[in-house]
Parts: sequence; structure tokens; C-alpha cells
Amino acid sequence: MKDSEARHHAAETWRRYPAAQQPDWPDEAKLRSVVRQLSLAPPLVFAAECDLLRRRMAAVARGEAMLLQGGDCAETFGQTTAQSIHGKLKTLLQMAVVLTHASALPVVKVGRMAGQYAKPRSSGEERRDGIVLPAYRGDAVNGLEFTAETRQPDPDRLRMMYEHSAITLNLIRALTTGGFADLRRVHTWNQGFVADSRSGERYERLAEEIDRSLAFMHACGVDTRGLDTAEFFVSHEGLLLEYEAALTRAEPGMDRPYATSGHMLWIGERTRDLDGAHVEYFSRVANPIAVKLGPAVSVDVVMGLLDRLDPNREPGRLTFVVRAGADRIRDVLPTLVEKLKAEGAQVCWVSDPMHGNTIAAASGHKTRRFDAILEEVRGFVEVHRELGSHPGGIHVELTGDDVTECVGGSNAILPEQLHQRYETACDPRLNHTQSLDLAFLLAEMYCDHADRAA
Ligand code: TRP
Ligand code: MN
Repeated sequence: MKDSEARHHAAETWRRYPAAQQPDWPDEAKLRSVVRQLSLAPPLVFAAECDLLRRRMAAVARGEAMLLQGGDCAETFGQTTAQSIHGKLKTLLQMAVVLTHASALPVVKVGRMAGQYAKPRSSGEERRDGIVLPAYRGDAVNGLEFTAETRQPDPDRLRMMYEHSAITLNLIRALTTGGFADLRRVHTWNQGFVADSRSGERYERLAEEIDRSLAFMHACGVDTRGLDTAEFFVSHEGLLLEYEAALTRAEPGMDRPYATSGHMLWIGERTRDLDGAHVEYFSRVANPIAVKLGPAVSVDVVMGLLDRLDPNREPGRLTFVVRAGADRIRDVLPTLVEKLKAEGAQVCWVSDPMHGNTIAAASGHKTRRFDAILEEVRGFVEVHRELGSHPGGIHVELTGDDVTECVGGSNAILPEQLHQRYETACDPRLNHTQSLDLAFLLAEMYCDHADRAA
């Protein structure tokens, strides 16, 4: 076997393991044809970019940087629009500025974007008025509309996932390197958003302060190139293994291939079975990766994941994203952190304060209380402070649009208002104002600490 074949083979070993949450593709021949096309298609990201992100994540693991990861719960093909992509990017850049300013740490910016099209489901079927159809598994698999035709999984959607990822990533690359993300334009990212929010005003003041600092540095002759582009990466849940394997590429001279569908991939809470296909696939690729951990996870499973996914204890390789719920985080997290510390593992700890705090409103809308989200983040940060470990950052579901999906925040969305702009294809997202609110409140937690440390 040639070297390149051996490496390619490494991306196929998952087929010998049970793969949870894979769609029932009705047309095997069509699936094989799409997968063949994808395996010949250009990569969306390059190995060197993934390595750079791994180095950035290593800084997070050492406590020298913070991770800000965010975007839709589920991206949809219909929302591959300039406005939607702009909105999320501006929101994330604003949050990054707020966090950098407070923590005095570099913020590693990672979109939950350009590939977040597949969703795991608790039930494979959905029943409405006596009719049972396959559950919506994300635009990569089937459509949201409740008709037999739309809910049928269609392999062509994998090709569309690749195309929509490419289109989205193209605009992200243009915006982050083409002048839009220039730190001297920090004011303009707030334009078009509701300016009358408390956080919007607070942001304006911060932006003025940054303007003055930049002018000062410029006047002193400091070289401020490097501030004109933003470093930005993309990530998604690596759920559909046919898709991920088709986009896995070997690099000459490297012993592991790379997933080239995004810089960072994560394994969900429902697919992180130690004996399952997802852990096997992820163990074979060289990207920085993350695993979601729910409140019921055992220390043994976490140790097992560490051994399978980061046997060489490489800082930056493995991130644990904890989503325990506001009422559980303080019980669940300490044991895990202490055990991994004792093991000498250098993983990144990140808080997902969204998924453990989903509730049903009286209206039937799936929602999240802003205060519960904040409370989980606070618990996460406090546990780490007590243990002397680094609260590495947050992973959140957000949008730049003025949606009404989560309740609370500084412009208090009320439960009665949820129907006004409830647009998510899956879980409720923080809107622009709520995202900025969260950034400012999180910033205060890091700011206190920076003061004490100084
Ligand atoms: N290049 C740096 C970075 O990506 C600084 C920077 C430029 C920046 N534009 C930004 C930081 C926008 C945050 C937001 O971190
Ligand atoms: Mn979600």
C-alpha cells in the first residue's frame, strides 16, 4: 500500500464501528456518487490553518488566551445571505473586542459557521396530527417543512452543504481580511443594530476608547498593521461521517490526515460513545477537536475520551465543552477538572451555557432564559477560579438578527414576545443585544480577575 493510501485509509476505519445519528439515505447509489464527487472537490480549509488554530488553542489551554465560539444552532441554506453572515460576524467581532479589552488576553475567534448544517435528534421521527415523518436532521440531510417529500433524506444535500459552506467561508475570508474587520472600524460593527440598548451604548464608549488608543499608538509611531485583519476560524459538529470522510485529506509528510470541511470539529453529547464511529474518526484526524460533555458524563468516560483523542497530551488538540445546566455546573465540573489536572492533560475547558438551559415557554416555544445562561457561565468561571485552572471561554448559539428566541437580557425579551421573531431552525439563539450583554457580563468576570492578578 502506498503511503497516501494508508493515510486515506485512516479516514475510513470508522466504518467498522456503530455510527449513531446517521440518516437513512434512501438511495445508496446516489449517496456513493455524491461522496465520490466530494472526495475529488477542493478542500475548504488547509492543514496549515488547522495547525495555526491548534497553536491558538494551545494558548487557551495554557491560560494565555480565550476562546469565543458562536453562531447558529443550525445554519440553513436559505440563510446563506450577506446580511446573515455579516450580522453574525459583526456580533462575534464586537464580543471579541469587549472580551479582549477586559481580559487583556487574545481572543481566539471561531464561528459556528460555514458547515453547521447537520443536527442529531433524540427521536428519528416526528409526529404531527397523527402523521409520522422522519425528523428534521438539518439542511445537510432533509428539509424543515413537514411533508413526506421534504423530510426524505437526500444525498444531494451533502453537495449543497459543501457549496453553502464554501460560499459562507468565502464571504468570511473576504470580510475578515479585506478591511471590514480592521480594528480602526470598531464603530461600524455596531451600525444597523438597535443602538438604544444599554450594551449598544456601552459598546460605543468602548469603541471611542479604542479609537483614542489607536490614535495614540499611531502618533507614537507604533506599527499597527496586524490590526487591519482579524484572525477567524470556522467550526461545526462533525456529525455526518460520510461527508467528513469524503473531505478528509492527507498532507505529504504528515502522519495524520486533516478534516478539511472546517478548522475545528466537535463531537456532540449524543455521539461521543467511546466505542462508536465518531470517536474513531476523530482519533484519526489532526485538527483541533472538541467534545461536548453533558451533566451525566462520568469521569471514566472523560478519561477514555482523553486517551482516545489526545493520547500524546498535545496542548490545543482537545477541548472539552461543558453543557451541564446552570443548576448542575458547580457539582459536575470540579471532579472533571481535578481528575484531568492530576492526569497531566492540557485540555481547553469551554462553557456551552445554552444546551443545559433549554425550557419550554407557556406558548410552547423552546426557549432559554438569559439569566440561566449567565448563571451557568458564572458557575463555570467560579469553579475554575477556585481550582486554579483556566476558564478557557464560551461556545454559544447566537445570531446578529433581532430575533426573539431567548427571554431576558438588557432589552428584556418577555415570554409573550417569543412569537414575534422566532426564526431558528432548531434551538433558540441569543440575538445581537443579548450577545453583547453576555460579552460585557463575561468581561466583568475576567476583568476582576485581571485586576486581582495585577
Ligand atoms: N488581528 C488581531 C486579531 O485577529 C486584532 C484584530 C483585528 C481584532 N481586528 C479585530 C480583534 C477584530 C478582535 C476583533 O485578534
Ligand atoms: Mn443547539
